[in-house]
Amino acid sequence: MGTQKRTSLSRILLAGCCSVVFSLTGSLAWAGTIVGTDHDFSTSTWSGGEICIACHTPHNADTTTTDAPLWNHALTAATYTLYSSPSLDATVGQPDGSSKLCLSCHDGTVALDSFGGVIGSTYISGTANIGEGTPGGTTGDLSNDHPISITYDAALAGTDTSLFDPTVGSVTIGQGGDSKTGTIDDVMLLANKVQCASCHDVHNKYAIPGTPLLRITDAASALCLTCHNK
Ligand code: HEC
Ligand code: HEC
Ligand code: HEC
Ligand code: HEC
Repeated sequence: MGTQKRTSLSRILLAGCCSVVFSLTGSLAWAGTIVGTDHDFSTSTWSGGEICIACHTPHNADTTTTDAPLWNHALTAATYTLYSSPSLDATVGQPDGSSKLCLSCHDGTVALDSFGGVIGSTYISGTANIGEGTPGGTTGDLSNDHPISITYDAALAGTDTSLFDPTVGSVTIGQGGDSKTGTIDDVMLLANKVQCASCHDVHNKYAIPGTPLLRITDAASALCLTCHNK
């Protein structure tokens, strides 16, 4: 029985291995890995040569934020100036869910190498500092960024008719073997909300090669036209 199981498992592994080789050689469309992206920290001096560790840990994870899978990175405590405009229908609050995890590096207040309980000293800078905070700071600015942590549901699309109903129709994120198709709600929203991860794939799994980890290409503004009926 045990041998039987091992045999079928190795067949599956073998099949998986061959299809990866096939995708690599047979199609340039195969993207789907964090290796070699901006989030592959294995060549940074502070990472101990690992990729996942700056963000995840198998043990003693931080459970204070929802949507934080086995989280290992120090969390931002910043309060942000939020996006606002007279035509906005959605309610924008302080960032929550996985966007809080992104901002824990991308608001410039917490060091990249602050993880596993250690306080680091290397901060994100330039245009990648989306939250525009300063090292050790307690404030940030999201007023010049696309709103995040907003509920986007059928009701909002009813109020703002220039948005597609996120619960009907079908969109595809990623490409090639690494793609997913479903409603906007299924494949882009997290608990009905637009978050950083609606547009970006932190692991580059469902992302389009040659874009900043975008889940749908920004060529001809396809990404924007997925949600906005303009
Ligand atoms: C730069 C930070 C970062 C790195 C590096 C990173 N992750 Fe993640 N990971 C996240 C965030 C943020 C989420 C939750 C939101 C999301 O999925 O977009 C997540 C979610 C996950 C999840 C649960 C959701 C899912 O996609 O299945 C798994 C499993 C996971 N990561 C595994 C890994 C592994 C394995 C590595 C290393 C090869 C890794 N991650 C590297 C930030 C990171
Ligand atoms: C552990 C710190 C860390 C976390 C957490 C993190 N990032 Fe990053 N991210 C970086 C660094 C460092 C860069 C490279 C910045 C630079 O070029 O200066 C980067 C780059 C990026 C880029 C640009 C990629 C490109 O190819 O141009 C995007 C987009 C991005 N991150 C999105 C996210 C999103 C979305 C999340 C959350 C789901 C996230 N990041 C979480 C550290 C992090
Ligand atoms: C509505 C879609 C959308 C959302 C939501 C979104 N982004 Fe982006 N992001 C983009 C697009 C499109 C680009 C490429 C164009 C640009 O650079 O302005 C980009 C670019 C970036 C870059 C690269 C900027 C650079 O010049 O290095 C980073 C880093 C990034 N985003 C992080 C984030 C983080 C963190 C969040 C959440 C706080 C977020 N994004 C939310 C669409 C989005
Ligand atoms: C995942 C869906 C989604 C994607 C992708 C997306 N948006 Fe949005 N966007 C929204 C939602 C929802 C709102 C809130 C609209 C409202 O409540 O009026 C919004 C708000 C906006 C607003 C502010 C509207 C106002 O009245 O102030 C602008 C401008 C905008 N988006 C432009 C873009 C652009 C440009 C892109 C592509 C880079 C993009 N969006 C991609 C869902 C999305």
